[in-house]
Amino acid sequence: MAELHQSLPGYRPTLLRTDFPGLVQRWCARQVAVKIENDRWGLPSFKVVGASWALVRALRDHLPADWAPDAGLPALKGRLTGVSLLAASEGNHGEALAYLARLLELDCRVFVSNEVPDHVRSRICAQGAEVIVVPGTYDDAVAASAAAVTEDRVLVSDTSWSGYEDVPQAVAVGYSTILRECSEQLTSTSAPVPDLVVVPLGVGALASAVIDHFARIGSDPVVVGVEPSAAACVMAAISADRIVSLTGPLESRLSGLNCGTTSMVAWPSLRAGLDAVVALDDDEGVAGSVLAEQMKLHVGPCSGAALAAADALLKHPARRAVLGLPEQPSVLILATDGRPAPATDAPTYPQEAQNV
Ligand SMILES: Cc1ncc(COP(=O)(O)O)c(C=O)c1O
Repeated sequence: MAELHQSLPGYRPTLLRTDFPGLVQRWCARQVAVKIENDRWGLPSFKVVGASWALVRALRDHLPADWAPDAGLPALKGRLTGVSLLAASEGNHGEALAYLARLLELDCRVFVSNEVPDHVRSRICAQGAEVIVVPGTYDDAVAASAAAVTEDRVLVSDTSWSGYEDVPQAVAVGYSTILRECSEQLTSTSAPVPDLVVVPLGVGALASAVIDHFARIGSDPVVVGVEPSAAACVMAAISADRIVSLTGPLESRLSGLNCGTTSMVAWPSLRAGLDAVVALDDDEGVAGSVLAEQMKLHVGPCSGAALAAADALLKHPARRAVLGLPEQPSVLILATDGRPAPATDAPTYPQEAQNV
């Protein structure tokens, strides 16, 4: 998989910053590290690392016999005639898949809920994909994308359900590149292994990759997820001890995280390894973004939410104690998105793509 990611033109590990004396003091921490996913192949989120590996899995019946992942995705350019790609998205996964489709010269259709803001739809269109707006929530968009599958219209979903598991599983495996980079970057600066990892939650695939990665390297940090109160599907699953589907509307300013159902393949890892979930209201998320700016972190709302959740936990001795953190924990925050373009700069979203 490392070869596949490195085959994508312009691959380089994203930044891991540890220069946060203000946060170290504020949180009484030994170290604060932030992995900044605001520029993956020029896109403002981490999603291409999952979508690219999942694409290989999804295309397995269409791949030329002489191609293997270490040949790289660009070697498939122009060799998959007649195939097109489908996904549902809260924004970032769709943009990532559209980017990959463009690289491979494939058509791509991305299904989004009508709750997804115009500027997010525009980013997907800007990668050359057709955006199909579905009335309802993210779950409705997922259902519409699954219903559009044919032999040549291949679904690359980052969420899973009974009978559709291997591609989303590959998405989470793809995310392990982020964690591998993190571990290498921490080791190369002799930084301590994290005691606390904070990760934003949509359907939970990224958090499951975090949990699986640290288990694989024999480390057991406290893993905390953060999601919008308006779409707290992982918290609902943990409370019910089973996956539940939230009904809409699931709108919050945490664009990317407004999901109603935890991914089936992520659930076992989340159930076993997620130590706490913080659900944030919009104003708390905004406060996190302000804190990010103060730290000169040019990141998006999901990253701001991760900072806000860390702040809410680490400033309270009782919460630190409940989580069993050491006196001066080493903290790793996954800042999963970049700062959204200002509304005035947003390209116009084409009218014809708005029809279901
Ligand atoms: C920016 C951002 N952060 C975090 C997540 C959460 O990832 P997951 O859906 O795997 O939980 C998403 C999901 O789309 C996202 O777009």
